[in-house]
Amino acid sequence: MRTIEWVDGHVDAVDQTALPQQRRVALHTVSEVVDAIRRLVVRGAPALGALGALGVALAAARSAERGYDPQTVRADARRIAGARPTAVHLSWAVQQVLPAVPQGPAAVLEAAQALVEADVRACATLSRLGAALLRSYVGDRPMVLHTHCNAGALACVEWGTALGVVRALHADSLIQMVVIGETRPLLQGSRITAVELTRLGVPHQVVVDAAGPGLIASGQVDAVIVGADRIAANYDVVHKVGTYPLALAAARTGIPFVVAAPTATLDPDTPTGAAVTIEYRDPDEVLLVGGWRMAPAESAALNPAFDVTPADLVTAIVTESRVIEPSRVAESTGVERAVTVPAMRMVGAS
Ligand code: MRU
Repeated sequence: MRTIEWVDGHVDAVDQTALPQQRRVALHTVSEVVDAIRRLVVRGAPALGALGALGVALAAARSAERGYDPQTVRADARRIAGARPTAVHLSWAVQQVLPAVPQGPAAVLEAAQALVEADVRACATLSRLGAALLRSYVGDRPMVLHTHCNAGALACVEWGTALGVVRALHADSLIQMVVIGETRPLLQGSRITAVELTRLGVPHQVVVDAAGPGLIASGQVDAVIVGADRIAANYDVVHKVGTYPLALAAARTGIPFVVAAPTATLDPDTPTGAAVTIEYRDPDEVLLVGGWRMAPAESAALNPAFDVTPADLVTAIVTESRVIEPSRVAESTGVERAVTVPAMRMVGAS
């Protein structure tokens, strides 16, 4: 079943705030879409792109019920695109479907669904490419990978990015263990990635985020594999807070730090990671655990949801069409390798 889809005139999606419990939500209005994005009911860069595009289709469908007004649809599209700032997929996907707005709701829906299908294909292809790349770095043997946050099927439409790579390797019995950073404060590692890997039958261990760099330094990890929310033109990688320390440890230890992301994550309009708006979320996400306040009432908290990994710490970025190795040349101009997508047997639940 897909993470997000269009069903009978509305958007139907997995409610990711409820995981590990299974619950789906029906989104009928633009306000419900914006609220779902802000509350992380739908989260993960490609899933946000899918919801952005389908959200504009929803705006068009609702507008048609009152006498179709392209201006209103464009205003709704701006609200959706601005619901979260960091993952480029959201605003990119909205932009992709806007040209269809003057043609009416059916055309907008068609454009949105084409974008969703393209995401499924891109993630499946980059997963095979990423698996082949890791085999070339680590060798054809069962490997221990460290991942962070959730870059699996639940962060996309049907397939994952970083976890898609894991899934492809697992199909060839090449996963010994996946170490998952729990991903404080909202625990996407424990609540979402661990659930996905359980369903797929992939061996995994959840660790506190602070343990990751030490485990890498002690030689217990073969490579780090993560997704991305935005990749700047110089290949700086923006991903969930806590990714940067893993990249530092990987570089210091001499193991690969690999980023798996569709081409849409590459943002040529953002020169470096410093230009990316990092989302700061509600301090209570940090201060409260399970509804209980952990710090004194007087204490404030800072809650950046993402961090920037500089390009020189990135061994490779794998998209559906190419492998970029930013750290192989000076000044982060990157090396691009021509690649052939290998055929690989893929197993497991989608
Ligand atoms: O705040 P979130 O849960 O939306 O953050 C998501 C991540 O950082 C993901 O790992 C990233 O979007 C990659 S998705 C394939």
